Amino acid sequence: MTTPAFGGEVSDFYQRFRRGYPAEVADELAAAFALSQVQDVVLDLGCGTGQLTRALAPHARAVLGMDPEPAMLDQARRATSLPNISWLLGADTEVSALLPIIGHGRLAAVTVAQALHWMDHERLFAAARPLLRPGGGIAVVTNGVPLWLQDTAWSAAVRDVVAAYLGTPPHRTGGTDEASQQRYATALAAAGYAVDQRVVEYATTLTVEEIVGGVFSAMSPEQLPAPDARPAFTARVRTALAPHGPLREAVRVRILLGTR
Ligand SMILES: C[S@@+](CC[C@H](N)C(=O)[O-])C[C@H]1O[C@@H](n2cnc3c(N)ncnc32)[C@H](O)[C@@H]1O
Repeated sequence: MTTPAFGGEVSDFYQRFRRGYPAEVADELAAAFALSQVQDVVLDLGCGTGQLTRALAPHARAVLGMDPEPAMLDQARRATSLPNISWLLGADTEVSALLPIIGHGRLAAVTVAQALHWMDHERLFAAARPLLRPGGGIAVVTNGVPLWLQDTAWSAAVRDVVAAYLGTPPHRTGGTDEASQQRYATALAAAGYAVDQRVVEYATTLTVEEIVGGVFSAMSPEQLPAPDARPAFTARVRTALAPHGPLREAVRVRILLGTR
């Protein structure tokens, strides 16, 4: 939406309502980078509340979830107690500062899930390179098209309610659009990575509460309706969705791979 940030209550909506990743996504990443449970360390940058971090944990010796928003890391910590995950406060600009800690060629992968649009991707791709071991790489993951931008009648109805509430149509794609994907692929190749892609698709059915929670998870704290205004917002969404029957969603998780 306009200026999303992930602090305060937004982090709570994110943890409760943002969909996670099916096991096949982590399987694809493990296969692409030949991840070893015995020796590999993975950095999940922009980890948020840890949706992908958790999925990666069984495939690596250790996973480092890194994010600049303390509230998101706090939610991640509370939701996950896996012993091989560590949480680190930091942004894309601090990845090169990990070099003296992790060492040259010692990281198996950097994953950036639904977060690259917040970063300077060209600088990140260059900064990650010296950290990565041969055969390791960067994965840019997007978790389906935002709920309010899909090509279905129910998504258009959600879009209308959100546009009326914000006073402007929600347009942010979160890097899921073709132009962004192409830009990321081109930048990976320019930074010297071998580029490939994978797609994991599945279907799900959503409730009105899940759609409202998903919309709230994408607002900035300033945009969130006040607690006493949320029932009315939910009622507007419920009314708008009533004609559209089961709220089916076809989720297409895209994985852009840059192998070193
Ligand atoms: C949409 S969430 C994605 C969370 C999770 N990776 C997922 O797949 O659901 C985007 C995350 O990127 C983080 N972020 C924003 N700017 C960042 C930056 N410059 N460097 C690293 N992470 C950033 C935000 O704090 C937020 O937690």
